[in-house]
Amino acid sequence: MPLPNPFSGTKRKKVDVDALSVLNALPDPIIVIDEEGYICMANPAGEAFFGSSTNILRQTAIEELVPFDSPLLGLIGQVRYSSDCVSEYGVDLGTPKTGIKNVNLQVSALYGTSNVVVQIEERTIALKMDRQLTHRGAARSVTAMAIMLAHEVKNPLSGIRGSAQLLEMNASDADRALTRLICEETDRICALVDRMEAFSDDRPIDRDAVNIHEVLEHVRRVAEAGFGREIIFRENYDPSLPFVYGNRDQLVQVLLNLVKNAAESVPEGKGEIILTTAYRHGIRLAIPGSKDKVQLPLEVGIHDNGPGIPAEILPHIFDPFVTTKQGGSGLGLALVAKIVGDHGGIIEYDTAAAGGNFLIRLPVYNFSKMDA
Ligand SMILES: Nc1ncnc2c1ncn2[C@@H]1O[C@H](COP(=O)(O)OP(=O)(O)OP(=O)(O)O)[C@@H](O)[C@H]1O
Ligand SMILES: [Mg+2]
Repeated sequence: MPLPNPFSGTKRKKVDVDALSVLNALPDPIIVIDEEGYICMANPAGEAFFGSSTNILRQTAIEELVPFDSPLLGLIGQVRYSSDCVSEYGVDLGTPKTGIKNVNLQVSALYGTSNVVVQIEERTIALKMDRQLTHRGAARSVTAMAIMLAHEVKNPLSGIRGSAQLLEMNASDADRALTRLICEETDRICALVDRMEAFSDDRPIDRDAVNIHEVLEHVRRVAEAGFGREIIFRENYDPSLPFVYGNRDQLVQVLLNLVKNAAESVPEGKGEIILTTAYRHGIRLAIPGSKDKVQLPLEVGIHDNGPGIPAEILPHIFDPFVTTKQGGSGLGLALVAKIVGDHGGIIEYDTAAAGGNFLIRLPVYNFSKMDA
């Protein structure tokens, strides 16, 4: 069954919507810069962001609003030159007046004019950047615990399990049920500790050129052979996608965790998962504490027709031990976030579309540079 399409179905009456009122209703600050670098328009969220009315902003050049070395100025120049849309994550647009303002920027050319539109995602920073950067912190806290657990729990557990097996040999039927229980439960704890041990590995990852379509197909086959047997899988791939600079096994693990979560959330008998890939120009991530940026043009999407993530856990989904499932460990997404972070990529959850929607942005394998 196809995913619900809000645009299909019955014919609806044509409604006139004033574009300006839409712009004014948007919660994200939007400003338009004219060819001389002056702000010629700002929506109310933009006025609030810069703490000035449109009238004052109109007499202000963008250079006066942001520090002279702000990446925003470079992005505006780039868009004027290329007419492309460029995005940059994790930029500080703060001024002494506004304080630190960590934002995502999207800058695009206004078709048919020399003006440039700047969209500032301040609100989503908590969601996007927070997830992308705090998962490193979250992973660190699991790391310490994983090392401790491996020492303090796993070793004694094997002793407990061995003893239970010895007792089992001479036990009555009733007691044997109990020794079995001990073995099963120790196995379960061992498996949990094993999963957590993945976090304690902080060696640099071994990376090469990876065909993400091959990885996606592998994951789909694994899913179809097991937990996703009843689910319809669809693919929407960009066939010209370049290779990812990554570690194949770890990327399999990432996609398997995401597809498994999707499979666990879709309606029984009507489940559908869509795997997508796309090339997005101009997506860059600012590296905190440095002027460097990584280009993240490869986009991999995992979409499902389940209910999506419950709002109350949304800010914490990449933290370890956050789960709504009975018997869930809440380590799946924490591990996904760690691995994506180790690849220098980011993972986002899109709340705007129906269902569950994860997007991973990854760097491209650069043949000329890597093989030099
Ligand atoms: N595609 C999805 N749709 C709806 N909710 C999701 C989806 N993916 C994750 N979640 C929510 O996020 C929570 C955390 O996911 P995570 O994979 O980290 O742990 P888990 O699946 O509960 O347990 P584990 O993966 O360790 O078995 C889930 O319990 C679920 O509530
Ligand atoms: Mg999971």
